Amino acid sequence: MALAILLAFLLGIFAVRIVGASDPYVKTVLSLTGDPVQGHAIFQINCAGCHGLEADGRVGPSLQGVSKHKSPYGLIHQVISGETPPMPKFQPSIQEMADLLSYLETL
Ligand code: HEC
Repeated sequence: MALAILLAFLLGIFAVRIVGASDPYVKTVLSLTGDPVQGHAIFQINCAGCHGLEADGRVGPSLQGVSKHKSPYGLIHQVISGETPPMPKFQPSIQEMADLLSYLETL
């Protein structure tokens, strides 16, 4: 029984990953090479109010090393989903998202 639940849970995670990776927006973002300098500028305008100018945390948590526990898909999802208020839902262009992602991955 416990095994069945575990299996269902793992399948669920797997399904989310497949859906995530096949999302055209995510797919195109991941196919681009982001510019972390540009990403830093986008971050300072949109995110620093909550996460701190150098992503060291204020209202929102510090994002230092965030790419060690969130996948690229997880990071994109965090930015565009609006699932964890008070963090708003953002709609960056594909290039902006690629830049932002490359900046987050340098933290
Ligand atoms: C209004 C404040 C606010 C703004 C603006 C904001 N965030 Fe957040 N962010 C939060 C809060 C609060 C959390 C914690 C959410 C939770 O997990 O409940 C969070 C969580 C995150 C996380 C997940 C952290 C982790 O350890 O898993 C990432 C990544 C993130 N934010 C990136 C961004 C980026 C990139 C931007 C700009 C595009 C942004 N945030 C703008 C408040 C904000």
